[in-house]
Amino acid sequence: MKKKKDSRSGKVKDGKKSKEKNPKKKQKTQDKPKAESGQKTRDKSKTQSGQKTRDKSKTQSGQKARDKRKIHGAQKAHQGSVKKNIRVSYHNTRHLFGANMSEQLEHGENVSSLAYEVGRELGLPDEECRNLIIAGFFHDIGKAQISSEAQGRDSMLVEEMNSVRQHPKAGYDILKRHGFSEEICRDVLYHHENMDGSGYPENLEGANIPLGACILRVCDVFCALIQDRPYRSAFPPETAVKMMIEEVEKYNLKVFLAFQRVLHRSPDGSIALPEVRPEVRGVWKKL
Ligand SMILES: [Fe+2]
Repeated sequence: MKKKKDSRSGKVKDGKKSKEKNPKKKQKTQDKPKAESGQKTRDKSKTQSGQKTRDKSKTQSGQKARDKRKIHGAQKAHQGSVKKNIRVSYHNTRHLFGANMSEQLEHGENVSSLAYEVGRELGLPDEECRNLIIAGFFHDIGKAQISSEAQGRDSMLVEEMNSVRQHPKAGYDILKRHGFSEEICRDVLYHHENMDGSGYPENLEGANIPLGACILRVCDVFCALIQDRPYRSAFPPETAVKMMIEEVEKYNLKVFLAFQRVLHRSPDGSIALPEVRPEVRGVWKKL
């Protein structure tokens, strides 16, 4: 007879005896709670695991949402700070250019870039060339105090003309207040002085005019002539240079020659403003 070993006690049992106890029924009885318990365990496990998954998913999605909000917040803060910086930068520019902002901005940038090129052509130290970028950009900052109507007219009233003649000094004061160096402020103060003493505000002559101011003078006149104004159209660059040669006694000759060389750099021999260098744009961004 086949003998069975009790799984629990390890005792060997008689197969017949086991049959008498209806193991099938017992099995069913045993199976039910097992099954139920198994099911329950599985369910519990499923539920727990489902819960865990949902919790995990919730946690992850919650984390993601928090991260997203954080990133969004950081981005917003960054954008806000950029906007703030732009506002700060343009706050200065508004002081400089008043109502005619876009036209004056373009003019300021042209003078700034050209003055830098002329400074380099003359072999000036880096610091002086950098000063020219800033002084060129802000040279007309004092015009903020002049009415936009007066700036847009070809002929002005005597009072308006006097007011215009004050803009270099006004510009000097504004830049000084904003902490710019004496060299930069001084170049702005004298950017309308002429070598023959016919300029303003102090009618300085020759060597009394700082070199930076002489450079700004030449660049300012040329850039103004090649730009559209409310009362006239822009002159072609060749015409502008001819007009300047007609009154060359007003300009520092050394500066004027360097300016001519810069304008004639293009291979086809045409006269044009040079490309704005990255280092010039870099200085503008920090203003
Ligand atoms: Fe000016």
